[in-house]
Amino acid sequence: MLTSDCLGINEEGHLTIGGVDTLYLAEKYGTPLYVMSEDKIREIAKSYLGSIKKNYNGNGVPIYASKAFCCKEICRIIDSEGLDMDSVSAGEIYTAIKAGVDPKKLHFHGNNKTYGELEYAIENGVGDIIADNFEDIIRVNEIGEKLSKVVDITLRIKPGIDVHTHEFIRTGQIDSKFGFALENGEAEKAAQMASQLKNINLNGVHCHIGSQIFDAEPFVFASEVMLGFIKLIKDKFGIEIKNLNLGGGFGIKYLESDPFLKYEVYMESVSKAIHNKCAEYGLNIPKIFIEPGRSVIGEAGITLYTVGNVKEIENVRNYISVDGGMGDNPRYALYQAEYTCVIANRMNDKADYKATIAGKYCESGDLIQENVSIVKPEAGEILAVLSTGAYNYSMASNYNRNVRPACVMIKEGQDRLIIRRETFEDLIKNDI
Ligand code: LLP
Repeated sequence: MLTSDCLGINEEGHLTIGGVDTLYLAEKYGTPLYVMSEDKIREIAKSYLGSIKKNYNGNGVPIYASKAFCCKEICRIIDSEGLDMDSVSAGEIYTAIKAGVDPKKLHFHGNNKTYGELEYAIENGVGDIIADNFEDIIRVNEIGEKLSKVVDITLRIKPGIDVHTHEFIRTGQIDSKFGFALENGEAEKAAQMASQLKNINLNGVHCHIGSQIFDAEPFVFASEVMLGFIKLIKDKFGIEIKNLNLGGGFGIKYLESDPFLKYEVYMESVSKAIHNKCAEYGLNIPKIFIEPGRSVIGEAGITLYTVGNVKEIENVRNYISVDGGMGDNPRYALYQAEYTCVIANRMNDKADYKATIAGKYCESGDLIQENVSIVKPEAGEILAVLSTGAYNYSMASNYNRNVRPACVMIKEGQDRLIIRRETFEDLIKNDI
């Protein structure tokens, strides 16, 4: 039933996270409430770093994709572990800088970075701009010239890999708004353009083949395709690409039955492929970057809700309504994403009640999960949704003018607030 080893059940039959009773947390901070385990985040960050050390002699860096969960304290934690960070907006860059992250460690992504965002990033010394399209290349060169800087860029490439995951989160194939395609010569043209411009240094190539992937094979294939492209750039333009960024996308457990991808297996198979291909092509091993978001933070988080009512519609279905919903977790409404839902104060009771977990938003599609087996709750009991650390807070909204929940971090058995619950005043602060 539990999806992460940072979760447990105590003597009272209550769900715990990082050893802390979730009932105590719900009482102290109110619900809905995001709760994260710092120990878990640090453990995963360390394992990625260790893996780079082992498989590439330390010639590489894991980059945390901050879109999964971006706030100052998470940036500080990730930074203190020595990971770089991927930002996809000036807002994410701003947050990281305000948290004290060295801008050199930021990698700026996006399929439509505005001129203003590029200027902001380059002026602030962001270390790596990932060029997604020809305009990016032209604009970066122009801004570099204006600021008398030579800007390091990485080209985002579509390696043309079709990964079987939800269509909305598939970004690797040719029909994608992200990056330059290899098949139609676009990628080569981009490399040629970048190699000719004075205020650009073509430093790296990047690909990201999708998200929530459990197989190592597509990553191996992608790395081989990318090395083929690095060889082409060397042969045609005489540039030896220094950085190879293989993106993120490693799957996590939302359900107990989900497969468990050992990142180590992935890292080893990819490393082997890279070493072999480099030898075959006569290339130096590039510096390797990986860009995990979900797998760094997803299993480290849960959301706590209070049950408001249970509606039994005979011969149709039972609805359990909670005090949050699509405003704090839009992933079921968007992707029919699967989650494990439990009644946190009765973890040892039988989960034999079939129900749909509904939110409080004025929308029929505002569901957290449909037709799950759960302990039959009473109004006032605490319902927990597991593995909500990634893409929940970061995708939250104020729909229906609900305030966004608070977030609490657990470290070595101690809880602390890292994001305050919004107030009504926050809701109207920009209204004129
Ligand atoms: N790098 C790039 C360039 C990306 O576009 C992404 C995710 C990542 C890294 C991190 O991927 P991860 O390791 O987290 O799978 N909102 C969706 C996920 C969108 C992912 C977008 N890009 C969801 O809730 O499932």
